[in-house]
Amino acid sequence: MIPERVEEPQVCRLSEARRTVEPCSMVIFGASGDLTFRKLIPALYHDFKEKLLPAEFRVVGFARREKTTESWRAELRQALEQFSRTKPVDEEVWAAFARHLFYCQGDLADPIAYARLEQLLSAPGNPALRCNLVCYLAIPPSQFGLAAEHLHRAGLLQRNDPANGSPRGWQRIVVEKPFGHDLASAQALNRDLTRFAAEPQIFRIDHYLGKETVQNILMFRFSNALFERLWHRDAIDHVQLTVSEAHGVDQRGGYYEEAGALRDMVQNHLLQVLSLIAMEPPVSLDAEAIRDEKVKLLRSIRLFSPEDVARHVVRGQYRAGTLNGVPQPAYRQEPRVRPDSNVETYVALKLFIDNWRWSGVPFFLRTGKALPRSASEVRIQFRRTPHVLFAAQCGPKLDPNSLTLRLQPNEGIILHFNGKVPGTTIAVRPVRMHFSYDAEFGAYTPEAYERLLLEAIAGDATLFIRRDEVEIAWQIADSIRAGWQDKPLSDREFYAAGTWGPVAAEDLLAQTGHAWREPMVIKPST
Ligand SMILES: NC(=O)c1ccc[n+]([C@@H]2O[C@H](COP(=O)([O-])OP(=O)(O)OC[C@H]3O[C@@H](n4cnc5c(N)ncnc54)[C@H](OP(=O)(O)O)[C@@H]3O)[C@@H](O)[C@H]2O)c1
Repeated sequence: MIPERVEEPQVCRLSEARRTVEPCSMVIFGASGDLTFRKLIPALYHDFKEKLLPAEFRVVGFARREKTTESWRAELRQALEQFSRTKPVDEEVWAAFARHLFYCQGDLADPIAYARLEQLLSAPGNPALRCNLVCYLAIPPSQFGLAAEHLHRAGLLQRNDPANGSPRGWQRIVVEKPFGHDLASAQALNRDLTRFAAEPQIFRIDHYLGKETVQNILMFRFSNALFERLWHRDAIDHVQLTVSEAHGVDQRGGYYEEAGALRDMVQNHLLQVLSLIAMEPPVSLDAEAIRDEKVKLLRSIRLFSPEDVARHVVRGQYRAGTLNGVPQPAYRQEPRVRPDSNVETYVALKLFIDNWRWSGVPFFLRTGKALPRSASEVRIQFRRTPHVLFAAQCGPKLDPNSLTLRLQPNEGIILHFNGKVPGTTIAVRPVRMHFSYDAEFGAYTPEAYERLLLEAIAGDATLFIRRDEVEIAWQIADSIRAGWQDKPLSDREFYAAGTWGPVAAEDLLAQTGHAWREPMVIKPST
């Protein structure tokens, strides 16, 4: 007998083949800020440690505060102690990495500061370190246009289409969220930036797209024939997407007063995840092909009329309560929050996608602060069996099959189905098959920024938001805000901290016989 040939599992590396990282400099505007210390430098340190950065590179920090290169390096080293995902910090790696860091003091509005920056970048070395630039704008969005204009005037930013190449190297601008606070302001920001940089030079961050599990949505959907065959209205009853946070706004009350859950979470992270879950297969893995499909999907989302908002959207704000055994003050009592604030800390909504694949399938999205558990997951709930053979023994309704994509924490994929309880009686109960990232691949969980910074350096825009994407997402969010019409929150819209949101959010699903499923409690496997 000829033994069956066992194939080695094939590891298909998608992006590495495409990636070329050329010598370049990254200029971080906002080098004395929270994002730089907590996320950007720790991410670059890990990328350096993994030898993923170009052999020749520089990081230049730009901010108003008086610092020298030495004092900035010392502060960053201290911050790394706290924010590095691996401890202890590797002194040898840090010493080598720190030699690439430089500080440039200056005001974004001061042309002389850009001349200093230009001089620093022109220091002896590979000329590519002066021409190839990633300008990371970790500054208030109101300053984006100003920074771009001054960079351009200082000869540090040329408007060109990178696809056509340029003798003067390439320059890219990375911008942080929030990208506007509504459609009009996002369009204005886009206009400001595209005066000095072509769209392919602009990399809009949504850090959710840097998460391994969010990227895996595409791999999971388009590398497995099994599930993609079921991925449509004939098989799927509804989809639930939950992003819950088990903490209040803490010290970010000032920012949150201007944002709220709809702008802070739904317009970007939730709609991004939704578009990956629901989009059609792209024609290739090219950034534009993927983003074209996401845009097509976003365009198919039905905008909300004021009546739809009344029926299909629930907002809420947390009152005082207990979060994991600790007293949590009401949102209105948080620092820098107005005592009569109407800002929503919770949103749940039912939306419809008007296309052939999803017609009639409700998508329930919810996000909120001060909820019982921090978790992000997508639950695809399949239709029930057409007939229950075991109704006499088990009741008329069996638990429907579902597939849960757990995005964080304890990332994984869980398939729920029904199984017979062992024994002489006929009893059926839901059971689950669980794929855990940690168990399968070990506990290697790079931070989203590690990946995103590398992609920006490599010039791959797949994980960044294109202009039309951001504008359509604002159109959807604006249609919801218009329905709220600045109406004060009613009593029914408050919820106690430590609960799963206002009662109306339960009713939103109960109307059609559905119910929210709480994000699962999953213990880490390693
Ligand atoms: N922190 C986060 O986790 C996070 C998450 C998502 C998005 N973001 C976004 O990222 C951006 C930065 O956030 P952050 O939390 O780091 O803010 P931050 O701590 O307030 O830092 C702001 C930075 O901008 C610099 N800056 C402001 N005005 C300037 C000017 N006129 N000239 C030169 N530098 C100026 C500040 O430097 P000096 O004070 O020294 O001048 C500081 O380094 C914001 O757009 C924010 O919305 C942050």
